[in-house]
Amino acid sequence: MLEKAKTRLRPSARSGVPPFMVMDVMAAAARLEAQGRRIVHMEVGQPATGAPSTAVAAARAALLSGPQGYTETLGIASLRRRIARSYSEWHGLDIDLERIVVTTGSSAGFTLAFLAAFEAGDRVAMALPGYPPYRHILTALGCEAVGIETTADTRWSITGETLLAQHRLAPLKGVVVGSPANPTGTMMTAVALAELIRCAQEAGIIVISDEIYHGLDYAFAAESAARVSPDAIVVNSFSKYFCMTGWRIGWMVVPQPLVRAVERLQQNFAISVPTLSQIAAEAAFDARAELETVKKGYEENRRILLEGLPRAGLDKFLPVDGAFYLYADVSPFAADSFEFAARMLEEAGVATTPGVDFDPIHGGKFLRLCYAGSRDDMREAVERIGNWLKPR
Ligand SMILES: Cc1ncc(COP(=O)(O)O)c(C=O)c1O
Repeated sequence: MLEKAKTRLRPSARSGVPPFMVMDVMAAAARLEAQGRRIVHMEVGQPATGAPSTAVAAARAALLSGPQGYTETLGIASLRRRIARSYSEWHGLDIDLERIVVTTGSSAGFTLAFLAAFEAGDRVAMALPGYPPYRHILTALGCEAVGIETTADTRWSITGETLLAQHRLAPLKGVVVGSPANPTGTMMTAVALAELIRCAQEAGIIVISDEIYHGLDYAFAAESAARVSPDAIVVNSFSKYFCMTGWRIGWMVVPQPLVRAVERLQQNFAISVPTLSQIAAEAAFDARAELETVKKGYEENRRILLEGLPRAGLDKFLPVDGAFYLYADVSPFAADSFEFAARMLEEAGVATTPGVDFDPIHGGKFLRLCYAGSRDDMREAVERIGNWLKPR
């Protein structure tokens, strides 16, 4: 009887999404550290800094002031008002408060957006290279993730033309765009984003814009899809600019016709978003000076890498515009970046992420380096990589 029950317990086919290879790199780095080796970490994409002081103080005060019950499903009203205000301050936009939905990180935002907008079987496009969970969440939900290869000719982004070419092959229902992008750190200009959204919407393709790296733009100012169209779904987060990864809090700007669907889904999936995190997130908006100092640190790290890596021997990158990533072409050194990353970790003590996680087609040529660490780490990484590549 018990044996029979055991054989029936199998993971569903749709849960069979690929693993995240960066986890393997982290595990290998941890093994070396356990042997006493010093490793420079450039593999994980998160700020080295903690939540801003205003957020921590607000959370501490809230903890002492009473119980933290559920909140309204769409989020605490004052936080939603503060998020709406940030659109007027940062983008000169007047966003209807009703359209702001607080979520458990942008990760939950994607699941809500995909479920609210797409049916099982719908085809949804995204750029390759790109953030793997877009593809994997869509696949788990029964949609078809359609990777569109990008090149230097299109500044490593999907364009109206490449989107419509895919749409002609078989109709697309949606497209996910991200600028600044992970893993490339490359951004779309305001003109390129507006043109893509125009082409998509004329063809009836729903646009989901991942704006999680907004605030971390160095080459030029990041454009919000919310400024381009009220019909674009915008997903954002407190994880990156606000340095609050572990607080698991983000938000969406939802087109009016989808708001109630998103609300019903979130009521059932989560009831509400962690109350303490919502309180802290609202206070994080008051830490602008502190957060801008952190951003200056990333800019300095970016400068160190842009000057140092070419001298060290790595000189082919995609445009390093924003976020805190540099995506380097290592094909002159190795046929397989996974093996190259493993050797760089073992021999030079620098942990990076191989591109195969982000691009099953060309990822074997690339490595992602995250520059959210300390300035000393960046200098040390450049020196170690240079010494390691020198004999080649
Ligand atoms: C491009 C991109 N989108 C979304 C996420 C998810 O972040 P979170 O769920 O912490 O908001 C990440 C995390 O690294 C990311 O890089």
